[in-house]
Amino acid sequence: MKVNNEHYRTIWLDSDEAVKIIDQRWLPHRFEIERVSTHVEMAAAIREMHIRGAGAIGAAAGFGMYLAVASSFESSVDSTLEQAASALKASRPTAVNLEWAVERQLRALRQGDTLAEKKRIALREAQAIADEDVEACRRIGEYGLDLIREVSTAKQGEPVHILTHCNAGWLAFVDYGSATAPIYAAHDEGIDVHVWVDETRPRNQGARLTAWELGQHGVPHTVIADNTGGHLMQRGMVDLVIVGSDRTSVTGFVTNKIGTYLKALAARDNDVPFYVALPSSSIDWAMRDGLTESPIEQRDGDEVRYAQGLIDGDFQRVLLTPQDSPAANYGFDVTPPHLVTGLITERGIVEANEEDILNAFPEKRRGHAA
Ligand code: MRU
Repeated sequence: MKVNNEHYRTIWLDSDEAVKIIDQRWLPHRFEIERVSTHVEMAAAIREMHIRGAGAIGAAAGFGMYLAVASSFESSVDSTLEQAASALKASRPTAVNLEWAVERQLRALRQGDTLAEKKRIALREAQAIADEDVEACRRIGEYGLDLIREVSTAKQGEPVHILTHCNAGWLAFVDYGSATAPIYAAHDEGIDVHVWVDETRPRNQGARLTAWELGQHGVPHTVIADNTGGHLMQRGMVDLVIVGSDRTSVTGFVTNKIGTYLKALAARDNDVPFYVALPSSSIDWAMRDGLTESPIEQRDGDEVRYAQGLIDGDFQRVLLTPQDSPAANYGFDVTPPHLVTGLITERGIVEANEEDILNAFPEKRRGHAA
């Protein structure tokens, strides 16, 4: 994706000793790049949401494991890797991409004997995780584009209105985004698309991040308060909902940013198609009942009690609630499969059920010879 006409990924290798990330905390008001040189710094960057979003934190975990090897000694590399793996996995609990990337690195690293070999392997694997994320999102864009094209044709070229929640965009992945990839592809093809952007309280990833990146790409969009979607759907002002996912069970339960479930309910009540765009790195192949098994991050209540923004050029936070009111901050919710029209994956659009998901990814069937 281009920022001020220059192409950026959200994370990249800067040198043998460091990785660079786009520091999302200051967007949309400041575009800042952060240099990360240890796995401890990477775990902190994930925990404190300098970098966030399922695919981006998966890639960050991959590079975090590389940094752990790169700063290690021959004698201590295995224990450093163990520490790095648990610190990175613990930094955010919900997006499965994080543990997927760490486990993938650990598996690959078992092939290396010397420190030099391990360093080579960890770098190759980190780059592969990032490159595969880019390619998966690009393909999601192609499959999702077919859906948008169909709606546009049915509407005889009238604008296609798509509602999205949170930021499942370029910033949440390494490039393209999942929910936004079809939107960018449609816009680039000349289809008239307009996006309703849920602000996504409490951290406002929609208002701050999705709105900013759609603007960078020139996609018409309107930011709405989180509670607006149902009203728009009742009035025929939404053609399609496309959201992302942080963890989808092999049975099709979709864990995503808090508020997604309410959009799915409203979509069902109004016959609006509700799609989830996700790479297979966000599928939890071991999880069956998303409602009981999906880890739901609970963050600091102050994220709900305060809002943060730019005041006279300065970042400041302001208190919204009575000083002493406690707040609960559940980060994610789970949308059950019967409310999901389809999953847009890198292997095509599949129904949210085990049979369809495993048909698209047969190598994940139990007992499948790798
Ligand atoms: O808490 P965040 O901002 O890391 O939330 C995760 C997400 O980006 C969203 O839930 C998104 O819709 C999932 S797809 C990356």
